[in-house]
Amino acid sequence: MAEQLLRHGAYEYAKKVFDDIRAFSIDEPGVSRQGYGPKEQMVHDYMIEQAKQLDLEVFIDKCGNLFLTLPGEDRTLPALMTGSHGDSVPQGGHYDGLAGVVAAMTTMWWMRQVGHKPKRDITMLVTRMEESSWFGKAYVGSLAMVGQLEPIDLELKHRYRDETLREAIASLGFDPEAMVNGEPSVDLKKFCGFIELHIEQGPTLDSHEKERVGVVTGIRGNLRHKECHVWGETAHSGAVNKEYRHDAGMAMGEFLMSMEKHWEEWLEKGEDLVFTVGVMKTDPSSAIAIIPGHVQFSIDMRSLSMDTLARFHKLMEEEGARIGAKRGVKFEFDRTLVCEASGVDPDLMGHIAKTAERCEIPHIHMPSGAGHDAAVYENVGIPVAMIFVANQDGSHNWREKMKLEDFMLGTELLFKSIESYDD
Ligand code: GLV
Ligand code: MN
Ligand code: MN
Repeated sequence: MAEQLLRHGAYEYAKKVFDDIRAFSIDEPGVSRQGYGPKEQMVHDYMIEQAKQLDLEVFIDKCGNLFLTLPGEDRTLPALMTGSHGDSVPQGGHYDGLAGVVAAMTTMWWMRQVGHKPKRDITMLVTRMEESSWFGKAYVGSLAMVGQLEPIDLELKHRYRDETLREAIASLGFDPEAMVNGEPSVDLKKFCGFIELHIEQGPTLDSHEKERVGVVTGIRGNLRHKECHVWGETAHSGAVNKEYRHDAGMAMGEFLMSMEKHWEEWLEKGEDLVFTVGVMKTDPSSAIAIIPGHVQFSIDMRSLSMDTLARFHKLMEEEGARIGAKRGVKFEFDRTLVCEASGVDPDLMGHIAKTAERCEIPHIHMPSGAGHDAAVYENVGIPVAMIFVANQDGSHNWREKMKLEDFMLGTELLFKSIESYDD
């Protein structure tokens, strides 16, 4: 009975946090919380307020990442971390990132309610600018935290404003140059693991009636281009016959069809691969009666294998050159932005799966198609694991949904996994 009451209390606590944050994030029809922007900052401020009520220690690193710690018995032991990102894509869903932040805070609340004194510090981490949608670069806060953000990244431009990433960071009072000096913001040896809860963002878990929670086996990496171009020749749509055209739009169409055909063949060969052109536009001056002389587009290709990505990327450049030569246009690819794929720590993953079995939480094992901060930490030697929660209507769109009952199952698994970490 006491357990039921606590579950109910945790549900109400999480619901209020989600509702409060939604209220200041609304950007119809979705929510917008730009990384290194005022709404992301409000999430951090809100979490600091909650932390004070739960008597947690507050630390903000030089990159603006937030660390909230429930002190353990032996403070010399490396801390176990949990958390996620507070930013969102433009007019996106409420739960991408925020679910992991609220799960971490609810876990802290739960530990305080039951008076759990952990053996080691439990640290809740809220990262900055995980989403690439604003400046083209993913994992900005996490990369800076491990000393891997590069000076050239600060030059990246906002998606629609004349503002650089350097300026956005500085506007919140952080020193952008200090974030790219190659020095981690914290001693990475002080962390023994990171568990990130996240909505799945795909349809797999939601198609299961019983298993609403996933234990993640690996995280896809990606290669991206923020701003590529096809340069052709603008001309009159009636006066120029086919043989005289250098139509950038038609070239773009052929490029897409040809990449899709290669993609299908690679899938048949058993490679893990997804390929997306999310931005594709002709110039503002384009019109019904104009042959487009220019198309701007983005590239996002992802796989669990970085080798697959390197080979598909080379093929893509070759296809651009081939189609360009054939049609008298030029394909131009800008700087390649790389997010490394990662595994997860088998022991930490095993601990979560065993905890799920012990607590009778039905689950499946599954890879993560989307990218996550956890990959950054695993790749610098911090053991990571992830818990997925079923959600509806995908993600990176305003229709994204999540049932709080499913969220609470994942949060209970997170809480119990942290509680029993040193048993
Ligand atoms: C993360 O948001 C991603 O793009 O996978
Ligand atoms: Mn996302
Ligand atoms: Mn996310």
